[in-house]
Amino acid sequence: MIRSWDRSRALYERACHSLTGGVSSPVRTKAPVPLYFTNGQGARLIDVDGNEYIDYQLAWGPNILGYNHPRMVEAMRIQAERPYSYGAQHELEITVAERVQAYVPCAERVAFTSSGSEAVQLVQRLVRAFTKRPMILKFEGHYHGWMDSVLHSHHPQAEETGPRERPNVVTESVGQVPNSIENVIVAPWNDLDILERLLAEHSDTVAAVIMEPVLCNSGCLMPKPGYLQAAKDLAHRHGALLVFDEVITGFRMALGGAQSHYGVIPDCASFGKAVGGGLPLSVVGGRKEIMEQMFTGGVVFGGSYNGNPISLGGANAALEELSRDNGAAIKRANCTGEKLRSGLLQLAQQHKVPLQVTGYGAAMCVHFTSKTDLVDYRDTLADDSERLQRFLYLAMEEGVILVPDGRIYLSTVHDDRDIEETLAAFARVFAKL
Ligand SMILES: Cc1ncc(COP(=O)(O)O)c(C=O)c1O
Repeated sequence: MIRSWDRSRALYERACHSLTGGVSSPVRTKAPVPLYFTNGQGARLIDVDGNEYIDYQLAWGPNILGYNHPRMVEAMRIQAERPYSYGAQHELEITVAERVQAYVPCAERVAFTSSGSEAVQLVQRLVRAFTKRPMILKFEGHYHGWMDSVLHSHHPQAEETGPRERPNVVTESVGQVPNSIENVIVAPWNDLDILERLLAEHSDTVAAVIMEPVLCNSGCLMPKPGYLQAAKDLAHRHGALLVFDEVITGFRMALGGAQSHYGVIPDCASFGKAVGGGLPLSVVGGRKEIMEQMFTGGVVFGGSYNGNPISLGGANAALEELSRDNGAAIKRANCTGEKLRSGLLQLAQQHKVPLQVTGYGAAMCVHFTSKTDLVDYRDTLADDSERLQRFLYLAMEEGVILVPDGRIYLSTVHDDRDIEETLAAFARVFAKL
């Protein structure tokens, strides 16, 4: 049980006088107060008030190996004793590119960037150049970073969404380039009929269909059986490419991401978060002829931090850990998550609370809803979000941190003791809920 959040509160108040909004990303302002951390180990975090938490946020996903993993610390130490930035070539670039190539089926060639948002920008430019077409078809509820060209219809209000067969393209931010919507088509996910109709209508203009292969950013919804392959076939039939945004699923759902889990190989894919084991790194992988347009086809691409040695040292260590024994650590994280899911569902049943836990073991999401068939973003609009906020608050008071949208990330180091303690905490939460 938490003692107090007084020191976090005081630091937040101080921060608000210098750091805009007091935090480095607006999504970090959640109740009761943005927590300030001093340390962490394994699956646990310690805040400035001395409270210990079992953490399922993993820094919003990247810390797949948990906190202060000895291999990561060692890798960073080794790199920090050498020049920590070259802006030029070094062998780790090749080592990590070869690893990605070995694990990720679509990655005939690889490029490094620093954030998931940046990786998606590169992918978009590549697919537009390759197909000589301007439009991107994306899905409602899917998030591909905060840049103007893709920040559409991520979480539109119900009244903004428009007809399901032809959703509105909704900009998400004030200040976003208004005509960015002209290059985007939005479709409901997990619906092949509508996808086919929209592709047929825009047949000669769609460069690519882009999606999160598991809809992690709107409640961890799974693709319907056969959907991913059928979407790929449809895209190709209409001369468009298929892009998987695997920033969350990559190196988490399986070593080779959702594409290897489902056996559906996209033309290109973006990766971030887990690939750097917690360090800022993102990756684009794809078919050779698409990727090599960067050097032979006039596609411009840059970045001062591309191939940063510390990030790549961390990625090399993370990928070594994750790939050992045929991906045993990732399988373990997914199994541990399933134990948590079944315990959580049992508790909800005992307390007669309508609850769904969607997703796969290492990335799940709780929904307070009596709807049992959650297949696209609009289904999640019926979730009881006030109850979720109360649940998250009570869980935090009990020393358990989830992502503010109800997501639960499992690292490779969460163990049975963590799950037992978490379920005991959740039992107390349900009793109060
Ligand atoms: C699927 C997906 N794509 C892209 C991004 C953007 O990544 P970043 O926050 O590293 O820019 C995210 C971030 O959460 C994401 O989940």
